Amino acid sequence: MIPKNRRPLVLGVATGLAIAATFLASHAQEPGRRTRAEFMRMKLEYSKQVLEGLTLEEYPKIVQGAKALKKLSQAAEWEVDTIPDPSEYLAFTNEFQRLADELAKKAGEKNIDGATLTYLRMTMNCVNCHKYVRREAR
Ligand code: HEC
Repeated sequence: MIPKNRRPLVLGVATGLAIAATFLASHAQEPGRRTRAEFMRMKLEYSKQVLEGLTLEEYPKIVQGAKALKKLSQAAEWEVDTIPDPSEYLAFTNEFQRLADELAKKAGEKNIDGATLTYLRMTMNCVNCHKYVRREAR
């Protein structure tokens, strides 16, 4: 038995643990998915920024967007273990990062046609990776 004078303390600790457990459980819910969706939303935003840069011939905007896209892609690499066939997923990721570099380079050289073409190939890569994920992760 817990001595009478200790009971409020024990009760307090138990309540605290219960609250902490509830908090952790609610936050642990599919953290990978939520984070990935957030990453992807940001990818979409930066892609729009690149498109804006291309259409207005604002090269710094393109370079910034391309660099941010590469960083996002690198930051999301940890999630590979949630994908059924990581080797193919990694191939898309590597290609994506290579295209992001190429996009920044072409924009740095003020090569609007080259940058636009690279942007199109990058968009193909977005779509192809999504197609692959939907096919594999059913
Ligand atoms: C290497 C693979 C890969 C590439 C490349 C990729 N994505 Fe994704 N994307 C995913 C996966 C996996 C999901 C599913 C995320 C989920 O359900 O949590 C996703 C989901 C999304 C979503 C939906 C997020 C949501 O709200 O649920 C958007 C928007 C998105 N991607 C944008 C992009 C854009 C824009 C690009 C290219 C600039 C891109 N993605 C490139 C793998 C990729």
